[in-house]
Amino acid sequence: MVKITFDGIEVEVEEGTTILNAARKIGGEVVPPAMCYYTPLKGSGGKCRACLVKVAAGSAKDPRPMPKLVASCVTPVQDGMVVENTTNPDVLAARKGVVEMLLINHPLDCPICDQAGECDLQNFSYEHGTSATRYEEERRTFEKIDIGPLIQLHMTRCILCYRCVYTADQITEKRVHGVLGRGDASEIGTYIENVIDNEFSGNVIDVCPVGALTDKTFRFKNRVWFTKPMDAHRDCPTCSGKVVLWMRGNDVLRVTGRKDKYGEVQEFICNTCRFDKKDVNEWTIEGPRHIDQGSVISANHYELPVLNVPVVPNLPGSTEEDIKSTPFNLGRHA
Ligand code: SF4
Ligand code: FES
Repeated sequence: MVKITFDGIEVEVEEGTTILNAARKIGGEVVPPAMCYYTPLKGSGGKCRACLVKVAAGSAKDPRPMPKLVASCVTPVQDGMVVENTTNPDVLAARKGVVEMLLINHPLDCPICDQAGECDLQNFSYEHGTSATRYEEERRTFEKIDIGPLIQLHMTRCILCYRCVYTADQITEKRVHGVLGRGDASEIGTYIENVIDNEFSGNVIDVCPVGALTDKTFRFKNRVWFTKPMDAHRDCPTCSGKVVLWMRGNDVLRVTGRKDKYGEVQEFICNTCRFDKKDVNEWTIEGPRHIDQGSVISANHYELPVLNVPVVPNLPGSTEEDIKSTPFNLGRHA
């Protein structure tokens, strides 16, 4: 085990742990944001620079500071390391710069984007961005490409985090898409026009931190803040069948994997569960899903007393009695 000090807080972690995961062990406000790192995906991280921190002392043996800010998601801890994140003004200034850079080519189409309300970039720019841009050059545009009947690609929204590429590589049988081109000509594509089509392909939607990959079966159906997330499961021969149903009244509008408090999918789900099971009777509802953060649902929504929650007959957690008696607090400010 090694000890490090992160923002003045001492924490003990296993050797080889990254600075980001050491910070996650502390939890709360000191944890650096991450736009490309994704625990379940091998090789992820090191692309977006959202998680930059200052290493003020490299280790107990060699306490010299590291000359530049480092990406905390790919830098392993050393015994005696001292790391600064929220306590270092240079880190906060650099983070503003990263937001500005990520937004250079990102369209301001949040009002019509299905990811709005649960978009990592929206949250990142809200917390660390500035309201103006200095960018005057022409923005990138792309020929629209169709990647199949289930997934919508909006290349202008992509931040090239590579998560969808690793997901397709690591959890599906054949990857047909990747990042093509170099520099500002890089784009997600299928090279020879091809459709992303295999039983686990829908997971690229869940891992995408922005609205570049969205669910065509949910497209423009509703805003996420009008929906009510419910944990549910079914006997599925292909995946664990443990999902979140995003409901409005008794209608299942969207099915996604369950994510932890860092927005990382806990178990990848199959396309049958995600796209084909939109009838509530095909699911066993477990109860309301607690959304910690990363979604507008966690901000001021569903705080007690819970009002305006639709009463759905036979839906556990949804009768008048249940609503009154459940500690149904999905709010961050609980
Ligand atoms: S499409 Fe989404 S997941 Fe894939 S590289 Fe772009 S931002 Fe990342
Ligand atoms: S999360 Fe560390 S570089 Fe993207």
